[in-house]
Amino acid sequence: APLLARNTFGVAAHAAVLAEVDDAAALPGVLSGAEFAGRAPLVLGGGSNLLFVDDPAQPLLALTGRGVRVLDDGDTAIVQADAGVQWHGFVLDTLERGLCGLENLALIPGTVGAAPIQNIGAYGVEVREFVHAVEAFEPATGQWRRFDRDACAFAYRDSLFKHEPDRFIVTAVEFALPRRRAPRLGYAGLGDELAASGIHDPTPRQVAEAVIAIRRRKLPDPAVLGNAGSFFKNPIVPAAQAQALLDAHPVLPSFPTGDTALRKLSAAWLIDACGWKGHRDGDAGVAPSHALVLVNHGNASGLQLFDLARRIADSVQARFGVALEPEPRMVGARW
Ligand code: EPU
Repeated sequence: APLLARNTFGVAAHAAVLAEVDDAAALPGVLSGAEFAGRAPLVLGGGSNLLFVDDPAQPLLALTGRGVRVLDDGDTAIVQADAGVQWHGFVLDTLERGLCGLENLALIPGTVGAAPIQNIGAYGVEVREFVHAVEAFEPATGQWRRFDRDACAFAYRDSLFKHEPDRFIVTAVEFALPRRRAPRLGYAGLGDELAASGIHDPTPRQVAEAVIAIRRRKLPDPAVLGNAGSFFKNPIVPAAQAQALLDAHPVLPSFPTGDTALRKLSAAWLIDACGWKGHRDGDAGVAPSHALVLVNHGNASGLQLFDLARRIADSVQARFGVALEPEPRMVGARW
């Protein structure tokens, strides 16, 4: 099956096997069939957090079920959504139901099933705060598994699921969403965006609209210019190393991590400082609007984008002594 339209980078790749499964209950049967022959599939969600550097060696699986169910309608509602539900539509749906929490995560591409895997986060909120449980199927054992929030081992852009790629197939996620919550406006730019519109006590819907406006301004629309959002994680370095860098570059943005011994640095700033913003090699490039976003101007191959990413990371390593790691999954290559 062709994968060009199934990855937001818009790179050409081909899957020997691609199965679409609507009802997760059918998974054991599908995976024991001849096409899979016991091999663990690579699950394809929105294709917005991976780069096909080469054709995938594994069979691919897409979960297409899109059910949303309110399991508990209390003060904190429990809402269960199938893995195949589109994330942004789900965020709007929960706001429509009078639930809050996910408003800062509006307009993130991808699916509900992918959200806990890398613990999606934006504008001062990570999804882990609202994950009640993750439902999954484990092909190797044929077992259905349920992970409560603590069992997911969430960290910045990280979880148990990311540490053991393809071991579990996330089939549904339950979210615990409050009806009332103080808006989270601390992240640079968000409060200002609202204040500029004269809004000082925003509703969750207004917060979502402000987030949407900022994202539209800063991040290229993958439907127009192929990309997978931030290509690198913001690096977390020992506090002493961060301090030395901040002494030399006082304008380098840095953030607390919850552990005073570690500090998170802005990868975008480091890359920008190395002169990469707007850079272009053929059709592989760096977004003119954001140094952290690699873009496909047309017919870049996965390998060309990967090579560009390597050169960017090498230059940041050479100049600042900081190692960058890709945020999307690299398929068919090792970083
Ligand atoms: N900056 C530059 N040059 C640039 C862009 C940014 O110097 O070209 C500096 C600016 O000082 C800016 C700072 O970097 O204030 C931070 O930029 P931004 O607010 O865009 O956030 P980010 O750290 O680059 C992270 C997430 C994004 C998320 C935003 C907002 C990661 C890897 N990325 O980006 O998530 O939307 O914060 O919360 O943590 C994604 O994961 O795909 C993604 C887009």
